[in-house]
Amino acid sequence: MKLFSSVNDISDLKGSVEQALIQKADPFANQSLGKNKTLGLVFLNPSLRTRLSTQKAALNLGMNVMVMNLDKEGWALETEDGVVMNGTTVEHIREAAAVMGQYCDILGFRSFPKLQDREEDYSEGLFNKFVKFSGVPVISLESATLHPLQSFADLITIEENKRTAKPKVVLTWAPHVKSLPQAVPNSFSEWMCRAQAEGMLDFVITHPEGLELAEKFTPGAKIEYDQDSALQGADFVYAKNWSSYRDYGKTVQGAESWMITHKKLEQTKVAKVMHCLPVRRDFELSAEVLDGPHSLVIKEAANRVWSAQTILKNMLEGLK
Ligand code: CP
Repeated sequence: MKLFSSVNDISDLKGSVEQALIQKADPFANQSLGKNKTLGLVFLNPSLRTRLSTQKAALNLGMNVMVMNLDKEGWALETEDGVVMNGTTVEHIREAAAVMGQYCDILGFRSFPKLQDREEDYSEGLFNKFVKFSGVPVISLESATLHPLQSFADLITIEENKRTAKPKVVLTWAPHVKSLPQAVPNSFSEWMCRAQAEGMLDFVITHPEGLELAEKFTPGAKIEYDQDSALQGADFVYAKNWSSYRDYGKTVQGAESWMITHKKLEQTKVAKVMHCLPVRRDFELSAEVLDGPHSLVIKEAANRVWSAQTILKNMLEGLK
């Protein structure tokens, strides 16, 4: 594997989950694989889980790890091609990525969307430039439109906690105070749609009208605008806010009733509740649910190590 930016980079979905659970059962079995190999983690945005879980995964595999907050610790970065750099930017992504590729065997890159120009964000221009100019295998640590390490961990968590062969999984929009990217719900939907196509689960998305995700990430998903109907018989409820794809970057205000509470979960099949974190308690997800027996959020975050370790192991095996 040379690139991990989407579920489409995984050829065997069920096999990958099995591989992750093998890593989890015996984390240090492949310590020699990463000896004298270096992982570079490059962030243009904040992170807690992605940074620490991917570092831990690399250390479990015997790798060296370097982390750089490029937005704060690097030179002011130019990302556009063809500009005369006579302004405030100091270093072009072409050279920055190429140089980091000289120091690292594998790179991870995080860059959020600006949420101003949909075409620009959905072209994944910056992430693709980083991949092209670094010249080494790259893992997405969350791009403008997708967060595959998170979604892989989410699928692992569902497989571990399901009580029926084909659970009903509901992605529900949740309130928030600001506009958030669509990367997590796009990615979760992409992974769940693939899992549904492979007979692993049934997938429903519920949100206020106008907040439809890009269709290319929702093939086969059932869209249900009524949250109560969507929650009927659910085994897993995945709560997440996102801003509008159609009216790009705009969010819905006054929709606080969409927050998942114990009362709402009475309609489900004693559903387990998931969220990628960080979460706004009692606004995005109720504290009673987060602190109660329905919550899987900590187990889900823990599984980020095994999604990262599975991808890193695969990439290390492909290095010459
Ligand atoms: N869920 C997630 O990616 O968390 P961080 O943004 O803290 O890495």
